[in-house]
Amino acid sequence: MIDSMAPENMTFTASAPSNIAFVKYWGKRDAAIQWPANDSLSMTLTRCRTITSAKKIPGSRDIFRFEGQELTSDRKSSSHKVFEHLGRLREELRVTSALDITSQNTFPTACGIASSASGFAALTLAATAALTGETEWDKLAVLGMPRQRLAHLARMGSGSAGRSIFGGFVHWAAGDTANSQEIVEICPSSHWGLSDLVIVFSGHSKHTSSSDAHKAAWGSPFFPARLAGIHSRMERVRAAIKSRNIEALGEQIESDALEMHAVAMTGTPAANYIQEDTARFLAWVRQERSTGGLPAWFTIDAGPNVHLICETNAYASVAKRVAEAWPQVRVIMDQIGPGPTLARGTAKELFGEVTNV
Ligand code: ADP
Ligand code: DP6
Repeated sequence: MIDSMAPENMTFTASAPSNIAFVKYWGKRDAAIQWPANDSLSMTLTRCRTITSAKKIPGSRDIFRFEGQELTSDRKSSSHKVFEHLGRLREELRVTSALDITSQNTFPTACGIASSASGFAALTLAATAALTGETEWDKLAVLGMPRQRLAHLARMGSGSAGRSIFGGFVHWAAGDTANSQEIVEICPSSHWGLSDLVIVFSGHSKHTSSSDAHKAAWGSPFFPARLAGIHSRMERVRAAIKSRNIEALGEQIESDALEMHAVAMTGTPAANYIQEDTARFLAWVRQERSTGGLPAWFTIDAGPNVHLICETNAYASVAKRVAEAWPQVRVIMDQIGPGPTLARGTAKELFGEVTNV
């Protein structure tokens, strides 16, 4: 039993990064317990983040304000999951206090830049700090909340969020049973300087949420083939990261993204995230690489926006070539990062005005 030491009205703030998956989590073996169909592996980002503050309040009703607007706990709303998650955290911690939560993302929400990952990672950390009064990893571990457990709790809110509890390169192993799942930082961010240029074709919310599309994967004739090849894909990606081989990594991440989208497009019902601009951009990247030596590789999450991955020492030249060929397109420059932070204080006290990237 964890006694809740934090007094009411003391604010705690988490800043959690988004992550970009190199081997995608796509499909769930059991959605109720968030058991994925396959292992996934991601790189934690730096600038695309969620900043979430939490404080205990009197009464029994949680409040959730997202970017200035109070959101409802209504079952049918997309914010319902947030309220459900707070209930889950209280149950884990065996506490009852209501929470007042405010949150903002530094990047566009629900369009394939993994706001659900940073969002539920930040929510898990800020709420846990507010309910326990602790912000330090080792003290949280003493209270029965080691980082690994926080990652599993975050995963229950949104699968990809479990990976955002760590920095660098993170492997989420599906395990042979739901209880043998593991989320592990396989290399810290200092291991390899990689950049992610997020090419933003649309900041609008996607039509099919990732959660709905995960269900549809089982109807795709390509899904069994994807699952059969995941272990060897994971081995190749891990080896490329260990040896810092960008060509080998790039080849794998492009295949994995296309494979995931082939499953999405042929699922029942089908989900098509690739728009016309997205497809033109993918063709441009491959053309520029083969004829112009562009040292960058694409990946795409569940949205129309493309993540262009390159080594950080090539990033300025890659950004210049993108700007010349795609002058109208917004590009968010991001890179590998060390993971989330958690502290006592409001977002304003800790970070000043939070600006969009
Ligand atoms: P994305 O590609 O951005 O991850 P998803 O549809 O998978 O898109 O997830 C978007 C959902 O994530 C939102 O509808 C909301 O439920 C959740 N989310 C996004 N930002 C936050 C946040 N800051 N705090 C809590 N939940 C968030
Ligand atoms: C394409 O983690 O958003 O970004 O667990 O239902 O919330 P839920 O799904 P979510 O799915 C992420 C899918 C992906 C690939 C990835 O991040 O691995």
